[in-house]
Amino acid sequence: MKRRFIVGTPVWESEKISLLPEERRFPIACVSLLILNRHHRPFGKIAPAREEAGSESDFPPTSLKATGGEANQSTVKETLRHITSIADLGSQGLEKILAQATTWKKESPGHHLSGKVLVSVFFNPSLRTRTSFEAVMARGGGSCVTLEVGNGVWKLEDRDGVVMDGDKTEHLKEAVPVLSRYGDALAVRSFSEGLGDDDDNRERVVKGFRKLATVPVISMEGSREHPCQGMADVLTMAETFGKLKGLPVTLTWAPHVKPLPKAVPNSFLLSAAAAGCEVRVAHPPGFDLTDEVWQQASQLASQAGGTVVKAESQAEALAGSHVLYAKAWGPATASTQASTLRQPGWMPTLRHFEDMAEDAIFMHCLPTRRGLEVGEEVLDSPFSRVVDQAENRFHVQRVMMHHLLQEALW
Ligand code: CP
Repeated sequence: MKRRFIVGTPVWESEKISLLPEERRFPIACVSLLILNRHHRPFGKIAPAREEAGSESDFPPTSLKATGGEANQSTVKETLRHITSIADLGSQGLEKILAQATTWKKESPGHHLSGKVLVSVFFNPSLRTRTSFEAVMARGGGSCVTLEVGNGVWKLEDRDGVVMDGDKTEHLKEAVPVLSRYGDALAVRSFSEGLGDDDDNRERVVKGFRKLATVPVISMEGSREHPCQGMADVLTMAETFGKLKGLPVTLTWAPHVKPLPKAVPNSFLLSAAAAGCEVRVAHPPGFDLTDEVWQQASQLASQAGGTVVKAESQAEALAGSHVLYAKAWGPATASTQASTLRQPGWMPTLRHFEDMAEDAIFMHCLPTRRGLEVGEEVLDSPFSRVVDQAENRFHVQRVMMHHLLQEALW
């Protein structure tokens, strides 16, 4: 891909990375909710095997057949793989996912998830995450059951030791094991509840699922991280630039009308660090990411041969950078004035690309508010990779589901 840049007039010559023709024809229509595991089958020993034409039943699971033993919860749980954090991948796992996703973008794996059921549990709304997981399961020959908590599904309590005399009808302690009996894997989206960085970093709901599930658990965005977005972002950069080691990329804070969670900026920092990039982060005073996330990013970067740097200013961060990744997030403390959320100078415009590298691109996880968080001319320009990022959610999640349900890739 080449770009010629004349100030204010970007001219692009690029080859669009697109779905295979076969995939384009595939209908994106299915049910949703994610729980998958090859080591567990619903309904215990009396469950009928799911017979697929030409495929051998794997009930009881091979691991249990080998020992001739009874399924025992501790044995089952020890074999589980979960992906709720970039830490569950590390640099090696991230690299494997990117490599397999790149291969499968050229040649579809077909029904590699045949008969598998994902149960996805949404505490918050979604466009991309919900649709991409449903599409992964449908195209892979499996299915997805999607639950919207509080919308036709009981409101769920996650706190320990509370008297449930409010609006929550059921506790995770019952709900998660029950859902584990229906699906092969569980996916959960549970945003920050605005109780502060320490609470966010605990990932109470996502970790509650991990603790209670008897099938693999996937985070579809928790209070601390959005690992699937991080994987898709790194795949998008790898497709654009080839090698990522040492590549200067910038995460910049952007304005908004409300304090948004830090899961996406945390995940970009962590995943770009794990990919070995030179990650620069710029934000106004009072909007620091937490020390805990910085420390983890620093460790990942040192393992991958990259660096993570807090920039003094947005201009300093962007100079020579190849990526402008914009995202609004909330202040580090609740005492920060609401007016500080709207700082128009931080909104990316074409002017921000003037000192960037010749081949610089714009990235955002979406959804975004035009003219507030990101300038319209940037989203409409050839710099923008936001739709490619969203498409890549499908590709990395397809590999992730294969890793969790069919074959360990690392
Ligand atoms: N980027 C992302 O997670 O989008 P949705 O909130 O629409 O799922």
